[in-house]
Amino acid sequence: MALTRAASLCLVFFSFTFLFWGTVQGNPNYRDALAKSILFFQGQRSGRLPTSQQITWRSNSGLSDGSLANVDLTGGYYDAGDNVKFNFPMAFTTTLLSWGTLEYGGRMGSDLQNARAAIRWATDYFLKCATATPGKLYVGVGDPNADHNCWERPEDMDTVRSVYSVSASNPGSDVAGETAAALAAASMVFREVDPKYSSLLLKTAKNVMQFAMQYRGAYSDSLGSAVCPFYCSYSGYKEALLDNDKTFEPFIQQAEDFICRILPNSPSSRGLMFKLSGSNLQYVTSITFLLTTYSKYMTTAKHTFNCGNVLVTSTTLRNLAKKQVDYILGVNPLNKSYMVGYGTDYPRRIHHRGSSLPSLASHPQSYGCQGGFQFFYTANPNPNILTGAIVGGPDQNDAFSDDRTDYSQSEPATYINGAIVGPLAFLAGIYKS
Ligand SMILES: *[C@@H]1O[C@H](CO)[C@@H](O)[C@H](O)[C@H]1NC(C)=O
Repeated sequence: MALTRAASLCLVFFSFTFLFWGTVQGNPNYRDALAKSILFFQGQRSGRLPTSQQITWRSNSGLSDGSLANVDLTGGYYDAGDNVKFNFPMAFTTTLLSWGTLEYGGRMGSDLQNARAAIRWATDYFLKCATATPGKLYVGVGDPNADHNCWERPEDMDTVRSVYSVSASNPGSDVAGETAAALAAASMVFREVDPKYSSLLLKTAKNVMQFAMQYRGAYSDSLGSAVCPFYCSYSGYKEALLDNDKTFEPFIQQAEDFICRILPNSPSSRGLMFKLSGSNLQYVTSITFLLTTYSKYMTTAKHTFNCGNVLVTSTTLRNLAKKQVDYILGVNPLNKSYMVGYGTDYPRRIHHRGSSLPSLASHPQSYGCQGGFQFFYTANPNPNILTGAIVGGPDQNDAFSDDRTDYSQSEPATYINGAIVGPLAFLAGIYKS
């Protein structure tokens, strides 16, 4: 049910088309959207929930995660509409949340502490994964094939919670490198507010990175069907481990080549970037993050560059990023927001187990693995609102079916939201609503 998400971590973008949209009205309420984009992560929480939990239709789940390997791997996030903890996308999400908080935390206002809490929910889990067993890095919990055959609440899970790891003899430099990046980026987020935690994150990041470099291999080769076709390793790991010659030049060149490839052909071109029909908005939010951040760097450095004979300024990138965010928040031909709970017209039938099934509070008995499918196939709206979730999004004709069975359009994912938090804070700081 989530096969097309396989390409989610592939950061090779090209040949975008742009969807058209009509007239643009006032600015969306970026601050409201920012708060909701962070709140979403509470709905994805695995483990024992704290009393501060605001998405109250969720309850404790996965409390014995790790027990099959005699370790404690509770916590972390379910990655999308399912109940699997896939560490590769979780680490990517955490890296982007952390980077976004470092870049834009100053514009987050009272949401800064919520962003930190969202990061910490992941890093507490990653610390367990990295330190529970010497010589091993745990990289996931829950058999994805068993999980995807069921439609059940995380609180009811009865599928096998297999534990996956990489080690010297079963390496995974890609997932280990991404985990190290998440831990290192988060250590910077906590450097001043919690120095002790920050040091622990940094120390663990170094160990995990050392492991990634020492035992080289792609995790899909080691773990097979436990991670593929869900989150295969496509681009490998060697590139990321290259010892680039310690200057920024190659990065600047790569960033600008990339931006030139995605800029619309004409400055008046308007619309949503479209790459793939499977969860297209994951590419949009990730690229938007890169656009706002590079725009910010260009402003600071008073830098511009050229794509052929087109001059690119920080404003060029900011405007393109704003168009993407605005489209997601309802400035589009359907006037539909693709963020659940934002605006008045938003997706009601998202492909998400917890959201689509009656909550534990309203129905304490388990529905079991198959019992939930009656709620999967119904045309009724989901009973629980997963506030802040951004779904896969419309097709290339701006159409959206709001159909739970169409996961390519209606499934939310941690890595869609992880990338939008920073840009929303950026825009909230510039455009007051
Ligand atoms: C979207 O909103 C605009 C402006 O209010 C309106 O003209 C247009 O008819 C709306 N489109 C749809 C599909 O509702």
